[in-house]
Amino acid sequence: MPTQSRRRILTAAPALLLAACKGPAQAQPPVSAPPLKQVVPFPLGVAAMTGQFGDPQFVDLLTRNFSQLTPEWEMKMEAILRDDGAFDYARSDAIAAFAADHGLRLHGHTLIWYAQKPAAFERIDGAGQPFADAYRNYILAVAGRYRGRVVGWDVVNEAINEDGEGERDCLWRRNLGPDYAALAFRHAREADPDAPLFLNDYFLDTLPNKRRSFLRLAERILKSGAPLTGLGSQTHVSIHMAPGAVRAAIKDLASLGLPIHVSELDVSIRNADGARGALDMTPLAERLAHQARVVHEAADAFTALPAHQRYAFTVWGLRDKDSWLRHPPNAGDGTDRPLLFDDDGRPKPAARALVDAAAGR
Ligand code: G3I
Repeated sequence: MPTQSRRRILTAAPALLLAACKGPAQAQPPVSAPPLKQVVPFPLGVAAMTGQFGDPQFVDLLTRNFSQLTPEWEMKMEAILRDDGAFDYARSDAIAAFAADHGLRLHGHTLIWYAQKPAAFERIDGAGQPFADAYRNYILAVAGRYRGRVVGWDVVNEAINEDGEGERDCLWRRNLGPDYAALAFRHAREADPDAPLFLNDYFLDTLPNKRRSFLRLAERILKSGAPLTGLGSQTHVSIHMAPGAVRAAIKDLASLGLPIHVSELDVSIRNADGARGALDMTPLAERLAHQARVVHEAADAFTALPAHQRYAFTVWGLRDKDSWLRHPPNAGDGTDRPLLFDDDGRPKPAARALVDAAAGR
């Protein structure tokens, strides 16, 4: 996950400036938008978690606007694999049931991720064949359980170093070698003969060198004959993105001809990491307009893909207050507004931008 801490900037700011930021919430311009899923020619996804399903406004807003759901954390090892090695499907089954009950496509996220190092695997770190057996068993069990209920899987997440230089060292690579990713795709296909199987990563737009490393890994997996059948670009970006960077990334990733998933879009409106110590005092309406520009660029580039390459366009949260960027440890000063709907569930200029891009405006 992106580890560039935004706290670094805000805590460096003089207290006086911070006080200025704590003033009354600036009003956002009113925006009208139709139910989004009705006006975009591709599956529109959103990240969610079962703790949000008790909120009727959340469920109504999600089901009216989105056609696909990515479990924000409840189909990961941290939710399924207990320390004693037992499998607990309570959370993952609940989110799968919610998707089915509400007619939502379900995108499985994620089978293998460097950031998930559960005790049940760490206990057999270095064990050789027992580790390899447990790795295969986990993937077969989880991908097998949701066969026919997920429309695709993030099989391997974030295999490239954050700076883009080479592939990450991780528990999986140390035990299974550099082809742990290709192996994961083979196991996933063994469990689910039909689901598109994705390699997913972030900063593929911000860092062209990371995109090159990502595509090199994808080509190596493909060359091995492993069933990699989709590429996910998380697209965690900000209003400070250079115009054209997101578009270039989507076009470049699509060059392999595989289905593309804009898999975790959010557009932070907080300060550029580079502007250390200087708080962004740009008026909110102006920052939201910048955000809309970035969303329009991403949606326009995605819409321009051939239909067979438009797997889904997913935002990483429903309302601004649902965003991971508003919760510890990434919350900073708690003022970010990175998503399509504001804290009260009202569409923002970014939601309008998505509608306009999908319509070719
Ligand atoms: O809410 C539960 C609580 O009920 C439970 O007792 C507790 C037990 O640990 O977990 C709480 O859930 C936390 C969840 O976020 C909801 O806040 C999990 O601990 C915590 O691990 C989880 O963090 C998620 C993180 O991935 C790690 O899985 C974030 O929500 C999620 O936004 C983030 O998403 C990642 C993508 O998977 C990959 N790309 C980067 C992205 C952002 O880091």
